[in-house]
Amino acid sequence: MRSGLQGISHIPTYQDTYWQETKELLGWEQVPHKAAIWKVMGYRPLPHVWAIHESRATHRIVGGGNRGGKTYMASSEVVPYMLWPNTTGWVVSKNYSMADQLRLEVQGWLTDRLQITRGTRLDTLKWGEYYWSPKNQRLQLWNGSRLDLKSVESPDSMHAVPVDYIIIDEAALCPFFLYDNRLIPRLIDSGGWILSIGTFEFLQGEWFEEYFDIGQGDNDLDIASFMMPTTKNFHIYMGRGGEELKDVADDYHTNPKKVMKGNPDITWPLKPGTQVIINNIDLKWLEKERKRIDPRTFEARYLAKSAGNQFRVFPDYNISTFVDKDKAEYDPDLPVFLAIDPGGTYAVAVVQFKTAHSLGLESVNELSSGYHCCIIDEIYLQTTTTTHEIYDIVTSREWFSRLWHQPWEEPYHGCIDVMAPEQRRTWERKVREEIPGFRLRKKKVGVAAGVKTLQYWLDMGSLWVHPRARWFSTEMKRYHYKEVSLARLETGDPRAKKNPVDSWNHLIKALIYLLVIRCGYWGKSKESAKVSREKASEYSRKRRQEEYRRRVIHG
Ligand SMILES: Nc1ncnc2c1ncn2[C@@H]1O[C@H](COP(=O)(O)OP(=O)(O)OP(=O)(O)O)[C@@H](O)[C@H]1O
Ligand SMILES: [Mg+2]
Repeated sequence: MRSGLQGISHIPTYQDTYWQETKELLGWEQVPHKAAIWKVMGYRPLPHVWAIHESRATHRIVGGGNRGGKTYMASSEVVPYMLWPNTTGWVVSKNYSMADQLRLEVQGWLTDRLQITRGTRLDTLKWGEYYWSPKNQRLQLWNGSRLDLKSVESPDSMHAVPVDYIIIDEAALCPFFLYDNRLIPRLIDSGGWILSIGTFEFLQGEWFEEYFDIGQGDNDLDIASFMMPTTKNFHIYMGRGGEELKDVADDYHTNPKKVMKGNPDITWPLKPGTQVIINNIDLKWLEKERKRIDPRTFEARYLAKSAGNQFRVFPDYNISTFVDKDKAEYDPDLPVFLAIDPGGTYAVAVVQFKTAHSLGLESVNELSSGYHCCIIDEIYLQTTTTTHEIYDIVTSREWFSRLWHQPWEEPYHGCIDVMAPEQRRTWERKVREEIPGFRLRKKKVGVAAGVKTLQYWLDMGSLWVHPRARWFSTEMKRYHYKEVSLARLETGDPRAKKNPVDSWNHLIKALIYLLVIRCGYWGKSKESAKVSREKASEYSRKRRQEEYRRRVIHG
């Protein structure tokens, strides 16, 4: 069956320029848009939710708090697609009963607000009727559109049919494997979209958090992300003058007594400009609870902030701060360095050092004498690969010509894992055919001291990552200390353990070698340290205090 959307992917939200484009593309006099349908069904998006509905990104990620209105928002997004003939959508969740929540809300819109009635048989479905088949987990409309429920627990039910759109509810509970292997392939025919909504879960759904982070910043992956905190689940009605309590309550399909209680200081009928708060949940109750609940838990459950994995080695690395396309853009005037970690995963970080001045920043990094480290690119192959293959990729990149350092610029061209003498020789032999004098340095770097050093570069805000170096950010999120059991979660200190788990650290390791070789350690009491241990611990104490102030005092 051909998709009824005929290649437009997204139904327009308003009568805007995109709406004009779809009219031309379809060759229709009129094209329905979402806002008009919502008006009829009496759906009012929360103010911060419009941006979610308007976005035409292929991958939309919504991190929400509990009772933030996620399912309600998603069900309202679905209805215009159901009313459009011959569309197919999927609702995916942890199990069928969780997916069913969304189906029930969609069905509620159809019956309560759009007078679409329930038909008794699929084959005799009449105009204005729908049919729900529990056996097939399928909600079908007379116009040929349907919504299928899918469970993460039965991936085999994700058959080879083309689909126009997919919604994952409670996405942190959906394994990433299904995302790329079962879901996205279904969307190819129609160029469809996928909307993933969920709350951030501790130690689960890394991909969901990762995509959320990517979507918050610049990216060329067509990922956009949004927040729906519980604390914003209310409307503000602006009085025009003369409205009665009942009019406003009816408008929002809510109970007048509830509106009255939520706005005790307001006199009715309204004066022009009076603001009325329409609560969808009991926010006063939640504010009281806030005092009791652990701040981290509150952030994760109600403020839609990632709780973070407390076992992360670099907990404050985040994409919105450190990924910066402009600062980490390749500069043909500066030499390029390779930081190489060969092995099962073959990783190469491509680095330039830029002066603070050229970036318009202050220089505070005591190790680097004012230089900032910019990861301009990366090569990351997770299947065992040979150095020759990697080198072929290197030669094809734009920055390759800047590996020719002028003799007065730099005496070496990068670094490689000290444990890989074989690959080092291959690199040097191979590259010297084109770049005379190509040299990689090596140095044995202690794990803990290396971690501390990279942390210092982060603390000083002197590391910038180009969005194309995606795996670097992935590693920074995944590199972790060994997790303690659930029972010891409250008391176990992950950092009391010696070294992090030796995975998700290839680019990180390579970068650490380069930073240590070039600028020395932070806080190691050997001669190689540029900053003494005493000074380092004084600094880290300060940092912890600031962190505490930020979290607890400013809450
Ligand atoms: N735009 C809106 N207009 C009116 N009511 C809304 C709106 N958005 C959310 N609500 C109400 O807020 C409550 C919570 O919404 P919903 O169930 O969608 O939240 P959720 O984030 O999916 O919660 P959960 O954590 O339980 O999955 C519901 O009672 C819903 O009807
Ligand atoms: Mg929900």
